[in-house]
Amino acid sequence: MAVRPLLVGAASPLKLFDKPLLAVESSCDETSAAVILGRTILSSVVSSQIEMHQKWGGVVPEAAARAHVEAIIPVISDAIQQSGFAISELGAIAVTNRPGLVGALSVGATAAKALAFSLKIPLIGIHHLEGHLLSTLALAEPPPFPHACLIVSGGHTELVAVQEPGVYKILGETRDDAAGEAFDKGARLLGLGYPGGYAIQQAAVGGNPRRYALPKGLSGDTIDFSFSGLKTAVLRLTEKEGANLDIRDAAASLQEAIVNVLAERAMRAVDRMNFTSLTLVGGVAANLALRERLAQLCSANGFGFYPAPLALCTDNAAMIGLAASTRLARGEDDSYDLDVFPNAEL
Ligand code: KG4
Ligand code: ZN
Repeated sequence: MAVRPLLVGAASPLKLFDKPLLAVESSCDETSAAVILGRTILSSVVSSQIEMHQKWGGVVPEAAARAHVEAIIPVISDAIQQSGFAISELGAIAVTNRPGLVGALSVGATAAKALAFSLKIPLIGIHHLEGHLLSTLALAEPPPFPHACLIVSGGHTELVAVQEPGVYKILGETRDDAAGEAFDKGARLLGLGYPGGYAIQQAAVGGNPRRYALPKGLSGDTIDFSFSGLKTAVLRLTEKEGANLDIRDAAASLQEAIVNVLAERAMRAVDRMNFTSLTLVGGVAANLALRERLAQLCSANGFGFYPAPLALCTDNAAMIGLAASTRLARGEDDSYDLDVFPNAEL
């Protein structure tokens, strides 16, 4: 994605693609398709592979790609049917083409390319994180631009200045594990299974978040993150406490440690940029403790707070369609030989 320098001054009004567009997402362990019109989600179908990967305690890339092969056509077909539009009425096709598991990305990209080519309509490749970033466009009242965005997922933890759609600047990021990884690895150590974020949230209900002291990673006036020490601290805690470990209190303490550091850095970023609003996106944005904490802090500081709709936090094609809608409206598209990129900066 071309990163232009941050503009100064008011952002231009939001322009959106004015025909129904099909979006496809298969970068990790969800096969998803959606039909979007402007910023309205007409249909959104997500087929999750979580049950399959639970056996191994994490995503197995080869198995993920094969499961996408099976699911991709039925998922696309359901999304088109539920949208109320005929396939011949689609105006464009968007697909996540970066970053992600190469085999998984290839399945969605190949399906999207074949369909766009046969229908002779524009095709556009979208960065997965731009999808998360713009998932808040689906809110009844979308956030104003510019704003700060906290992206927290299984693979990423970033604070981003969003000047307007397509103009982003990374303000801070994790130096090691992502916030979602901290939840997932912590959950595994506590015997709570995969994926860990929701398991920790559930186990933490009624637990004492101050029972076990856990490190907050980097100290000082930073807006970067470090979560690898937290994982080690949870391992030490399980070794030290053994059978005496209170799982509820440990889950609550781990959740508190992650929420605290995310909230502190996010507020610092909004303040530093002189922004007046914050958005919260990505799989970990589904965490209720994090949503509540940021809502409180934003309200106390007079900032607007825009958490992504719960259904658009974990991976989905609708958010890819929203990002595509802004790019297509600006006249962008890609050729039918679109490639996939397992690693790509925002
Ligand atoms: O955005 P996402 O679906 O996939 C990536 O792009 O990585 O995020 C998945 C991550 C996982 O680490 C999962 O444990 C976490 O989101 N997650 C949560 C919750 N729901 C999902 N973390 C904390 N609390 C939750 N309720
Ligand atoms: Zn994601």
